[in-house]
Amino acid sequence: MSDTRLLIAQKRIFLDGRVAQSIQQKVTEFTRVVLDGQCLNNNAPVYMVLNKPQGVVSATKDHKHPTVLSLIEHPQKNQLHIAGRLDFNTTGLILLSNDGAWSRKISLPETKLAKTYEVTLAKPVGDEYAEVFRKGIYFAYEDITTRPACLEVLSDFTARLTLVEGKYHQVKRMFGYFQNQVLALHRVSVGNITLAGLGEGESRLLTAEELNGTLETIDQLGKVGLPNACLAAL
Ligand code: URA
Repeated sequence: MSDTRLLIAQKRIFLDGRVAQSIQQKVTEFTRVVLDGQCLNNNAPVYMVLNKPQGVVSATKDHKHPTVLSLIEHPQKNQLHIAGRLDFNTTGLILLSNDGAWSRKISLPETKLAKTYEVTLAKPVGDEYAEVFRKGIYFAYEDITTRPACLEVLSDFTARLTLVEGKYHQVKRMFGYFQNQVLALHRVSVGNITLAGLGEGESRLLTAEELNGTLETIDQLGKVGLPNACLAAL
């Protein structure tokens, strides 16, 4: 008798709360399999936020550098994927989940989930930037024009930029349009989710309120968590 057959005969395996009857019983990725009272495949949805430090790769595996996943402590961490990557040297808010449908929804430009960045620049921020960002910049490589973005100037060399999409190196390329190099980039919020209470490299589960907020955003097309200064622009 195979090991599994023996365990079934001993009534030690439960499938979705019922004692397993035979080796032929259908088991899918959604079946809850319990052996001797211990769940072997916990598929409960997990939603996490991480404060990414510089020099960490937004990937689940890397040969050379630490990954965002290596900073997470959670029993289901190996099920997680990243919902919206940040560049190697960009710091700040990264969302991770094992719920693919949720990650896909919040990443859609149509959802208009606000992503807010604090940017430090090599040259002073010009007066014309805000209007150009609001109108959108043409990216020849993708043949797209960026969606309206909202710029709040904080000082000569710093600004807060809110986007509702996430094209490759988007913030750097938008300032690159003015030949103004981004020296530091930090994502401070996504929708109503902020880094409050999280030190560098720390992570936590989203609260029910934060999770509902992202779902509400999906219904209300982004009006959740948008900086007041940007409500009219976006
Ligand atoms: N835009 C960038 O250029 N880099 C990031 O990491 C995120 C947005």
